[in-house]
Amino acid sequence: MAELPEEHDLAIRVMAMPADTNASGDIFGGWLMSQVDIAGSIVARRRAQGRTVTVAVDSFQFRKPVFVGDVVSCYAKITRVGKTSLTINVKAYAERQGHSHNSHLVTEADLTYVAVDDERKPRPIPVDTL
Ligand SMILES: CC(C)(COP(=O)(O)OP(=O)(O)OC[C@H]1O[C@@H](n2cnc3c(N)ncnc32)[C@H](O)[C@@H]1OP(=O)(O)O)[C@@H](O)C(=O)NCCC(=O)NCCS
Repeated sequence: MAELPEEHDLAIRVMAMPADTNASGDIFGGWLMSQVDIAGSIVARRRAQGRTVTVAVDSFQFRKPVFVGDVVSCYAKITRVGKTSLTINVKAYAERQGHSHNSHLVTEADLTYVAVDDERKPRPIPVDTL
């Protein structure tokens, strides 16, 4: 069982479904990468006050497997804000079916997003007014 991160915000929570499996019947790593990217982008877009694109996956570690029926929660935290880019650390936890009080850290990743304008050109990230 893992402690949930206090400094991260819950960005998304989703159940792993049979359609998300690979040819062996395990949850496909690409599905989890997609959820992590979505979670990071939600936090990035909020901080950038508008459209962002993923420019880099700086690190990505699969620590434990995800199984069908697990509830996956992605927590995200801004770790760097540059001129037009920002980096988000995402931690994904899985609650196993029937064990809703046990969360396992399954994935940790760092992703960089760039704030872009309507023409997909980098734009400055606004000063944080919160
Ligand atoms: C993101 C994109 C607009 C950046 O354009 P660019 O011409 O490289 O822009 P710049 O060189 O001015 O860099 C913009 C910022 O991105 C950062 N950046 C660029 N490439 C990077 C990389 N590989 N890793 C980390 N940061 C990177 C720069 O450091 C800069 O950050 P800063 O302003 O905070 O200092 C462009 O690369 C792009 O459109 N990429 C495709 C994005 C996409 O489609 N993502 C989804 C994939 S399915």
